Amino acid sequence: MNSTQHVKSYFFFLALSVMSVALMLFAFSPKATASDQENCVLCHQYPLLGTVDDNGTLHSYYVSGTQFASSVHAEIMCSECHRGITKVPHEKDVKIDCTAACHVLEPTTGRPFSHKITDDIIKESIHGSENKHVREKVVEDFPECTSCHANEKQELVLTSRIGMEKLVMAEGKARCEDCHLNRYDYVDRKMIHVLRRTENPKSQQEIVDMCSECHNDPELNKRHGLVNAIWSYRENYHGKTMVLGLPEAPSCIDCHVVEGQSPHKILSVADNASATNKENRGVMCARADCHPTASLGMGNSYIHWEIDKSRYPVQYWLLFAFTILTVASFLGLMVIMVMEMFRMIFPKFTIIKQRRDK
Ligand code: HEC
Ligand code: HEC
Ligand code: HEC
Ligand code: HEC
Ligand code: HEC
Ligand code: HEC
Repeated sequence: MNSTQHVKSYFFFLALSVMSVALMLFAFSPKATASDQENCVLCHQYPLLGTVDDNGTLHSYYVSGTQFASSVHAEIMCSECHRGITKVPHEKDVKIDCTAACHVLEPTTGRPFSHKITDDIIKESIHGSENKHVREKVVEDFPECTSCHANEKQELVLTSRIGMEKLVMAEGKARCEDCHLNRYDYVDRKMIHVLRRTENPKSQQEIVDMCSECHNDPELNKRHGLVNAIWSYRENYHGKTMVLGLPEAPSCIDCHVVEGQSPHKILSVADNASATNKENRGVMCARADCHPTASLGMGNSYIHWEIDKSRYPVQYWLLFAFTILTVASFLGLMVIMVMEMFRMIFPKFTIIKQRRDK
């Protein structure tokens, strides 16, 4: 071996070491989360990773490792959901199935956890295309989990006790740590898991936004013969109180789900078990946290009326009459005011006097 060969193999060895150190650094970099044992974030951490499909729509394939690690699915490995990806570099993924079981064991059954229970509730609700009250079975129009949910952040939200979050966490944790170790943030996560469900995790606005994607879509409403529930909600005092930020303002699910039932159990107005069924509306309005002193008759008020002659004729003609009344009285008032102003500017002006002068 001559000296140049020596230098060459030395450099080769150096390059190899640098590369393996770099690879190890990547593998154990803080971006590699508990869930990311497969190192998917190694490539997916780059914000520009993505493709443009045949329709010209840009799909971002960027995944922030730190954001993912603080999300509700932080404990799930990427490939437990992205089941089509079995090796790296990988091939095309398959459609994600939220009812597939993952490695997490549900403590009351000891069996692998899946969202099947929720899925079954939705299938039986008006959002399941097989429900007997469904008006138009256009399967693509019905929501999937991802129509309403993204990979939400796992955080504590105690809306009515602003500022209490930190205190509750700190004091509560100290007590848990008498018996449990806070390994892999176990205590933090379990505390949040329970506490965030003591209140509705989502704000009213977030829930309305969830439903707006479809119920504010004129084409979808037309296909299913529905009124625009988002427009009417916003016009109604319930929607206005939400915009004003009243904590008691009802969101869609406060009226459409029987108190104490799953938020996914939204039933058709025609369903006897629905909170919005004619027979049950009064009870829904008179909930302890809404209108506790109201009589059952309150349920007869119109919540989602539209300016529609055929569906709401009485309201339509009343609105018509009031519009005419308002415009007519306003115009009359305007004429009188203009005449008065004219008199103030030209106090001596009279048509009759002019004629006499001639
Ligand atoms: C709880 C299940 C779940 C886990 C865990 C998960 N994902 Fe996803 N991921 C989804 C869903 C659902 C979508 C949206 C797919 C769609 O709209 O068709 C998605 C979308 C994506 C996309 C965009 C794909 C596209 O076609 O637009 C990428 C890239 C991605 N995930 C990467 C990852 C990586 C990397 C991880 C691990 C850090 C991960 N995912 C963990 C469920 C999951
Ligand atoms: C070697 C780098 C690399 C690694 C590691 C990697 N990916 Fe990807 N991934 C890519 C690239 C590049 C694309 C874009 C491919 C394209 O343009 O079609 C992509 C696309 C995707 C997509 C969207 C396309 C599709 O098939 O629907 C998903 C989902 C995805 N990756 C998930 C994962 C998961 C889960 C892992 C970990 C098991 C992972 N990736 C690991 C490079 C990587
Ligand atoms: C029509 C919209 C809609 C669909 C579809 C939907 N959800 Fe929900 N989900 C909601 C609403 C609304 C809530 C209640 C949020 C609140 O009370 O703040 C909720 C709550 C949840 C919660 C509790 C959130 C928490 O932090 O406590 C989970 C878990 C959940 N949904 C999972 C699913 C799964 C899994 C699917 C699919 C099988 C699904 N959802 C489909 C609207 C939907
Ligand atoms: C006095 C000791 C003690 C304290 C304090 C305590 N735990 Fe536990 N915890 C246990 C024991 C023992 C078990 C297992 C037996 C059982 O399930 O009841 C357990 C079980 C659990 C489980 C169920 C685990 C499983 O897989 O079934 C969770 C979650 C949990 N504790 C969270 C907490 C949290 C959060 C706190 C603080 C708010 C806390 N614990 C405070 C002793 C304690
Ligand atoms: C992906 C689209 C989609 C999303 C998101 C969605 N819906 Fe629907 N919803 C529908 C479709 C489609 C129907 C009509 C089924 C039919 O043809 O009768 C429907 C029907 C309803 C009905 C029944 C009307 C009746 O009396 O028959 C109610 C109530 C309802 N949705 C409330 C909600 C609420 C509340 C949310 C938000 C938490 C929501 N929807 C989110 C698509 C959606
Ligand atoms: C104050 C209670 C209340 C709130 C808040 C509310 N609804 Fe309703 N909703 C009702 C009642 C009662 C009915 C049945 C009578 C009617 O149509 O007015 C109804 C009917 C509906 C229908 C069926 C309309 C049709 O064409 O037959 C849909 C869809 C709907 N609501 C969706 C929503 C959505 C989405 C939201 C949130 C933006 C929402 N609702 C908020 C009480 C409410």
